[in-house]
Amino acid sequence: MATTTTRTSFLLLFLASLLSLSVPSSSSSTDSFVFGGCTQQRYAPDSPYEFNLNSLLTSLVNSATYSSYNNFTILGSSPQDVVYGLYQCRGDLSMPDCATCVARAVSQVGGLCAQTCGGALQLQGCYVKYDNTSFLGVEDKSVVLKKCGPSVGYEPEAMGRRDAVMAGLANAGGPYRVGGSGEVQGVAQCVGDLSLDECQDCVSEAIGRLKNDCGTADFGDMFLGKCYARYSTGKGHLALKDHGDKLSNDGEKTFAIIIGLLAGVALLIIFLTFIRKMFGEHGK
Ligand SMILES: *[C@@H]1O[C@H](CO)[C@@H](O)[C@H](O)[C@H]1NC(C)=O
Ligand SMILES: *[C@@H]1O[C@H](CO)[C@@H](O)[C@H](O)[C@H]1NC(C)=O
Repeated sequence: MATTTTRTSFLLLFLASLLSLSVPSSSSSTDSFVFGGCTQQRYAPDSPYEFNLNSLLTSLVNSATYSSYNNFTILGSSPQDVVYGLYQCRGDLSMPDCATCVARAVSQVGGLCAQTCGGALQLQGCYVKYDNTSFLGVEDKSVVLKKCGPSVGYEPEAMGRRDAVMAGLANAGGPYRVGGSGEVQGVAQCVGDLSLDECQDCVSEAIGRLKNDCGTADFGDMFLGKCYARYSTGKGHLALKDHGDKLSNDGEKTFAIIIGLLAGVALLIIFLTFIRKMFGEHGK
C-alpha cells in the first residue's frame, strides 16, 4: 500500500514536471508566480491523506481542461483524511491556457508545500488552494498579498483615470471584471464559489483598500482570500489577454499533450485504487 502511494506521488510529480517543460514560453506571463503559502500542519508520508491529496490535485488539473472554476471534496475512510480544494482561472484565459496554468500551479504548490495539510498558490492566470478544513463557499476578505508599485507622484490625470477605472470595476457586476482608460488597466475577480452578493462585497473591499493603501503608486495589487483587484497605469504589469485572441499552435499542442497525459494518469489512479482495494480486502 505504501509503495503504491509513493509510486503515485512520484508519477504525478514526474508528469507535472513534464507538463511544465512542454509549456511554451509564450504563456509565461500567465504562468508567472504571484504568491504562495502553506499551512503549519503536516501529514505523514504515505498516509491516506497523501493519497487523497494526490487524487484531489489530479482532479483539479483534469477539470481545468473543460472548466475555468471547480471545487472538489475527497472523502476518506476517516474524517481526518478529507481534503477540500478548488482552482480558479482568470476570466480571459482560453481552456488550453487555463489547463496549462493549473498544471503549473499544482506542480509548484507541490514543491512549495511538500507534506503540509494545506497550500495555496496564485499565478498570474490562475489560483489553486487545498486544505483539510473546508473553506469552500466561505467568503474571506483577509489580505493575502498587497503590493504597490513606485509612486508616480501626484499626477491628477493618471490618478483620475485610475479612480474611474476602479469605479467601473466596482460597478461592473459579475465574477470577472476588466476595464481600461488610455494606458490605465484594471482587473478584478472572485473565486467561483462566492455568490454574486459576496463577490460584490469582496471586490468592493479590495478596491477600497487598493485606493487607500496604494495612493499614487503606478500599479497596485490587492489579493484577498477569495477575490482580488489590480490596476496598472502603464502597460505590462497586468498582461491581460486581448479579447478574441487566437490560440497559438503551441497552445493547441500543449493542450493535446495535457489531455493525453491526464487520461493516462486518471487510468493509472483508477488502476492503483483498484489494486489497493484488492490487497486491502485480501489482507482483512
Ligand atoms: C488537519 O490536519 C491536522 C494535522 O494532521 C490536524 O491537527 C487537524 O485537526 C486537521 N483538521 C481537520 C479539520 O481535520
Ligand atoms: C462545488 O462543486 C459542486 C459540483 O460541481 C457544486 O454543485 C457546488 O455548488 C460547488 N460548491 C461551491 C461552494 O462552489
